[in-house]
Amino acid sequence: MADTQHGPSGDISYDGPPDYRAVGRHGVYPETSHDEIARFNFLAQMNRHLSTKLMPGVSEAFETRIEPKRETAYETRHQVRKDLVKDPLFQWWSALRRATMENRQQAGRWVTLRQAEALNAKVHELTDGDPRLKLDPDFTLPRGVCAIDHHCMPGSYHFENTPGDITGPANYDAGIFATTGGMLGRFNDGGGVAVAEWVKKNLGADFKPKRILDLGAGLGHNVLPLAEAFPNAEIIAVDAAGPMLRYGLARAKTMGIENVTFIQGDVASLSQFEDESFDWVQSTMFLHETSYKTMPMIFAETQRLLKPGGIVLHVEQPQYSQDMPLFEQAMRDWDAFYNNEPFWTKMHEIDLDDWMVKAGFAKDDLIHGGVAAIVDPDIFPSAAEDTEQEDYGRKAAWHVIGARKSA
Ligand SMILES: C[S@@+](CC[C@H](N)C(=O)[O-])C[C@H]1O[C@@H](n2cnc3c(N)ncnc32)[C@H](O)[C@@H]1O
Repeated sequence: MADTQHGPSGDISYDGPPDYRAVGRHGVYPETSHDEIARFNFLAQMNRHLSTKLMPGVSEAFETRIEPKRETAYETRHQVRKDLVKDPLFQWWSALRRATMENRQQAGRWVTLRQAEALNAKVHELTDGDPRLKLDPDFTLPRGVCAIDHHCMPGSYHFENTPGDITGPANYDAGIFATTGGMLGRFNDGGGVAVAEWVKKNLGADFKPKRILDLGAGLGHNVLPLAEAFPNAEIIAVDAAGPMLRYGLARAKTMGIENVTFIQGDVASLSQFEDESFDWVQSTMFLHETSYKTMPMIFAETQRLLKPGGIVLHVEQPQYSQDMPLFEQAMRDWDAFYNNEPFWTKMHEIDLDDWMVKAGFAKDDLIHGGVAAIVDPDIFPSAAEDTEQEDYGRKAAWHVIGARKSA
């Protein structure tokens, strides 16, 4: 359901993202001035415009003037992409999409850097000495994390301007609204809320996880809904990036969520945890940021860490299956080529079922499903209902691939 308002004369229909002022402000959320809010609103609306108004034009250009020029049928998405990039409408859409991302990052930096001292002090006060933050001073960042500014994010997830600085994750938190047009809900947790609901609905009342591990948890946007849905469970959020974890614990505490421990680690090698020690291993919008080399290691670790009867679920944008048109595949690949997501393309072409089986899960125990962000429908557009919001990569609706470990 799209958000509709009327202009002053009552005759102007507005069908765009909600106002930035609808975001949920927890205790360490950066302050935003009138001008900063206006900038985020502009970027959210621009992104919506690109996905709903310009994207259909790219699709039409492909059908009416790009594909007809080709003498033989396309066989791969790369052939489609190479023709798309020569088209002026694609170039326009692509350049603007990249520009909104670059602008979103700088907009968030202006917000967070001007209040860095106060934000850092607040977060340190909440986290220093708390045993639920386990940072490893000798930790070596995986290359896939520290060699790239993921989605054009200056310093990516791990960089600290000063020791213990959290302005990176504060930027991520404050600006994700602009990238998604508010599709993830007030606390950007619509994915996690949907996963918790999916698990309750599909795995039934008998599934009572005592220990849950979230891989590549980031600052915990999608972990806190699991913690809320299973308040008696111990939740462990692992991430390679120290600032994300520090900010994540502070954020969780100010939101009244106490059952999450944030641990620094490389999820390809989790020797700090014993075999068969988790009932549920979860990853949300994480796999696309892992390399071809590390993904099998992650799957093998997952299999090792699960208790018999336990489940693993990975929530991601859909794979490039044979059923997906090559145009859609090429458009989805945009993130790999123009948004600093180098692992995106390989991750989406592999056969995840096959990789799960190779990691030791039985074929018959694989789980497949789908989730769409669950948000407050009075304020936020629902990803499930609003199919127009498809922009090939950012829609708040995902596939679930997982498995139950044989008992
Ligand atoms: C796109 S974010 C996903 C965040 C989170 N799952 C969410 O739903 O908001 C990817 C996260 O994975 C982390 N990451 C990437 N590779 C990792 C690895 N090998 N071990 C641990 N964390 C990793 C990054 O630091 C980053 O915080």
